Amino acid sequence: MMNKTSEEYEKDIYILAIESSCDETAASVVKNGREVLSNIISSQIELHKLYGGVVPEIASRKHIERINQVIEETLTVAGMTLDDLDAVAVTYGPGLVGALLVGVAEAKAISYAKNLPLVGVHHIEGHISANYIENKDLEPPFICLVVSGGHTHLVRVKDYGEYEILGRTRDDAAGEAFDKVARAIGLGYPGGPKIDRLAKEGNPDAIVFPKAKIAEAPYDFSFSGLKSAVLNYLNGCKMKGEPIVEADVAASFQKAVVDVLVEHAMSAVAESGLDKLALAGGVASNSALRLAAEKACAQRGIRFYRPSPILCTDNAAMIGAAAYYDYIRGVRHGLDLNAVPNLKLGERLA
Ligand code: KG4
Ligand code: ZN
Repeated sequence: MMNKTSEEYEKDIYILAIESSCDETAASVVKNGREVLSNIISSQIELHKLYGGVVPEIASRKHIERINQVIEETLTVAGMTLDDLDAVAVTYGPGLVGALLVGVAEAKAISYAKNLPLVGVHHIEGHISANYIENKDLEPPFICLVVSGGHTHLVRVKDYGEYEILGRTRDDAAGEAFDKVARAIGLGYPGGPKIDRLAKEGNPDAIVFPKAKIAEAPYDFSFSGLKSAVLNYLNGCKMKGEPIVEADVAASFQKAVVDVLVEHAMSAVAESGLDKLALAGGVASNSALRLAAEKACAQRGIRFYRPSPILCTDNAAMIGAAAYYDYIRGVRHGLDLNAVPNLKLGERLA
């Protein structure tokens, strides 16, 4: 390990980053970890919508079809060729194994053909690092609330690449709860943005849904009870022949999720003695969560950070941001890099 800091690098570092862990085929060129020169995202949502969720086999095939074009486009927009790059970075976990493998194979091929260093990136580390792009002043340590379709984590970001997980979900991820409740009220996939939109027309206090607390683990989350409560409420209405006001259900459910997320994040920040909170992951684009977290931080004098919505959901710019800090620390992967579907945060292969 070289352990250089960004200031010690005289040369600008251009990284081509690739992300294919789920249903977005994405590539980006990032300069010095914080400046995005291009950010191309080819979404497969329209295809998976038909099935009400991501179909892994279809995702892998579509990644194969689209990845070369997405990379070409990102280089064109950045005004660069493969010869101008300093490294190639790729998400190698966690995610769908077949989907991850497409990005990993592509990155390895480019690394081999152009003799470029290869940097494998943890997907969640990417989500957290999305905050560095638009907040040039943000440096660790800080607390990050990571809320995506597959993960709900409260993380203490101790330094670049150094994470301590303070809390995690015991069952469903926050995004998963949004998607399942959206399906139950007939909104379709992906549910998060649809609930967000519909909730604006509803009353968040119309229905009181339970907020799970886990006594021995105050930073852990549980959303499956809330999801069941929404399903029971809907069934109850149907059985009694009472009308269902979907907007009220959406707003009340969303409030229950947001309240718990913000409460836990606030106590984590208070106990850590730090004064910075960042949001990350697809659910971090939720308007109610952004507003509630911003308000709670302002009341307590905590500095609040969140990426623009396009950098919250899956993209490759965030992978390029994370990869830069790995790169300058000397992290390199070999051509034996493999996809690791259940990769743990902080676990490194190199
Ligand atoms: O981070 P992401 O793009 O993919 C994963 O790594 O999982 O997160 C996708 C999740 C989905 O569950 C989606 O419904 C949720 O993020 N999501 C939202 C919103 N936009 C996306 N949830 C709530 N409100 C939103 N506006
Ligand atoms: Zn993600």
